[in-house]
Amino acid sequence: MVLSKQNIFVLGATGECGLTFLHHILSLPPTTAPRLTLYARSPSKLPAPLLTTPPPNIKIIRGSLTDIPHLTTSMASCTTVVSFLGAPPNFPNIFMRDKRTPIADALAGVFEAMRKNGVKRILALSTPAFAVPGEREAMGWGWWLWSCIPPLIVPQGSAEMKAIGETVSKQADLEWTVFRVPQLLNGGEEKGIKAGFLGPKYEGWIWLGRVSLVRWVLGEIEKGNGSGGHRWCRIERGKRAGGNKLGEGGGNVSRGKGVRKGIEKRG
Ligand SMILES: NC(=O)c1ccc[n+]([C@@H]2O[C@H](COP(=O)([O-])OP(=O)(O)OC[C@H]3O[C@@H](n4cnc5c(N)ncnc54)[C@H](OP(=O)(O)O)[C@@H]3O)[C@@H](O)[C@H]2O)c1
Repeated sequence: MVLSKQNIFVLGATGECGLTFLHHILSLPPTTAPRLTLYARSPSKLPAPLLTTPPPNIKIIRGSLTDIPHLTTSMASCTTVVSFLGAPPNFPNIFMRDKRTPIADALAGVFEAMRKNGVKRILALSTPAFAVPGEREAMGWGWWLWSCIPPLIVPQGSAEMKAIGETVSKQADLEWTVFRVPQLLNGGEEKGIKAGFLGPKYEGWIWLGRVSLVRWVLGEIEKGNGSGGHRWCRIERGKRAGGNKLGEGGGNVSRGKGVRKGIEKRG
């Protein structure tokens, strides 16, 4: 469906990815931009001008993930759900080894609201903490080692990401996309995105700019779910091997200097 006909129900709009998504939508020409319904527990974290004078294509609703009746009425006329929800690192949780998953637990209410409103499509952020069948066995030892770090240093966030991937991917009657992100960076744009199975031939890298992420998500919404069904993928910046293999001409994302510098510094 063309973007201008979409009404995207955004969860996690007040977080860094959500705000980047919002910023990207606001940069689109009004004739091509989708409508957004931002459902947030703390809308005061949204940019002040948006709260005082929201553009006509943006609706802001304060609400809790566990308030299913409110979720349901708020989702009326939406076409797609996008979730950038996730648990931020939290020291007490790290020390207590807390692994509760309030977001994943609340997703049942989101699915119920979707079904009641006839919304079929959901794209949800997760990480490789949610491994797809066969992936752990197929990935190289480097990726395996890397995947052991998040459960150690952010047990709750990692448990939440795993549970989100598992919960979304069980919804047989919905068209879901679980996009599993690596380390996220702010800044400009990147050049390439690799989306796929984290096996031995995987060529992604461990960094991804949020700008590239949100452009990719929007591109997926615009393309529609070609398979008419389900998809999971790991998305990353394309790895450079004798030049960036991905996105060099024909890539759907382009790279700006800000993130590139950030990536090179940290990489
Ligand atoms: N930073 C990284 O490099 C990295 C790497 C891999 C994965 N991740 C995961 O990706 C997620 C998204 O990234 P981000 O940078 O956008 O994170 P973020 O800035 O922490 O945003 C998280 C969003 O989730 C919302 N949220 C959290 N718990 C909620 C709850 N119980 N009910 C309703 N809303 C809730 C937050 O709402 P409030 O604003 O109201 O708190 C916020 O909008 C992270 O939370 C993390 O788990 C991050």
